[in-house]
Amino acid sequence: ESYDMGGHDTYMHKEISEQADAVDRVLRGRIDDRFSTVHLGGLNLDAREARGVRRIKILGCGTSYHAGQIGAQLIEELARIPADAEPASEFRYRNPVVDPDTLYVAVSQSGETYDVLAAVQELKRKGARVLGVVNVVGSAIAREADGGTYVHAGPEVCVVSTKCFTNTVVAFALLALHLGRIRDLSVADGKRIIEGLRKLPAQITEILENEDEIKKLAAEYADAKSMMFIGRVRGYPVAREASLKLKEVSYIHAEAYPASELKHGPLALIEPAMPTVAIVPDDELLEKNRAAMEEIKARSGRILAVAHQVQEKADHTIVVPKNENELDPILMGIPLQLFAYHTALAMGRDIDKPRNLAKSVTVE
Ligand code: AGP
Repeated sequence: ESYDMGGHDTYMHKEISEQADAVDRVLRGRIDDRFSTVHLGGLNLDAREARGVRRIKILGCGTSYHAGQIGAQLIEELARIPADAEPASEFRYRNPVVDPDTLYVAVSQSGETYDVLAAVQELKRKGARVLGVVNVVGSAIAREADGGTYVHAGPEVCVVSTKCFTNTVVAFALLALHLGRIRDLSVADGKRIIEGLRKLPAQITEILENEDEIKKLAAEYADAKSMMFIGRVRGYPVAREASLKLKEVSYIHAEAYPASELKHGPLALIEPAMPTVAIVPDDELLEKNRAAMEEIKARSGRILAVAHQVQEKADHTIVVPKNENELDPILMGIPLQLFAYHTALAMGRDIDKPRNLAKSVTVE
């Protein structure tokens, strides 16, 4: 991939369009069918050390933090290691307890974000083991970490991160599978996840082929002054990232909430002028998500669902291909990248360089 725009009107559009190839690249050469696992050469963590990990703490900022939230869920689901993600910018200011049995993972597209780098340096000073999940090869965070894995998204020029988010989540799926197969993930489940990973590039292409419909939906909702994004468990970080995308590039105010929290306050905001984007995977929480949509409809809220089948409660549904439950979050955010892009385009925004933002925040 080059820095050339290659016929696209913006880098954002180019980078969204490159995602099938980018995911193919992060998978390439890493899958080991013989043992239903993956090889991540640069981790510097042998099987005995991996078994000794009691907890995983993921640190990143912005979009990388959201990718880390999905990563933490993947690690808990596949490797059964307690894991969570926290903004590095918060972690470094709260004098955290640094535990020798915790594996820390710093996640960054640029590998230069100061808050992440400062967190890594503080952790290293306290004797912690830190891995990097980084896109830019040889960047400061990659150099500072004890090991890690590159995300191989290729150059990302647009300030608004898209393909790197997707590839980072796939890199976390690989890490979770690798750790899982060292621990208690069965051969059959390893195989199931590998088959799911292999389907991703074609499924991404299928989603991107739906661009005209997503463009029409963006026009439909462009009058919104504010939008609500909801999801539950696997869908929640997807909602958070989609909300960040929309506000960064269109400047429309957006909020993300767990669907389960609506009744604890944000339901008060629902009215026709505040549409909701609902992430509704076909998983064990489908009925719960339908119930949340029903509550929104009862308050005259408009709903755009991203789902695996048309949702009757929603005004519109973007249907995405189904993968394994654990891997669904990788795909469900992609149409919402296009949604944010087309909303911003229609509003005449400076898509590749939104106001007040920099590609990498290398200062405090
Ligand atoms: C992404 O769309 C943002 N512009 C921003 O949140 C970004 O993800 C964040 O600043 C972290 O950057 P990094 O991944 O290079 O560390």
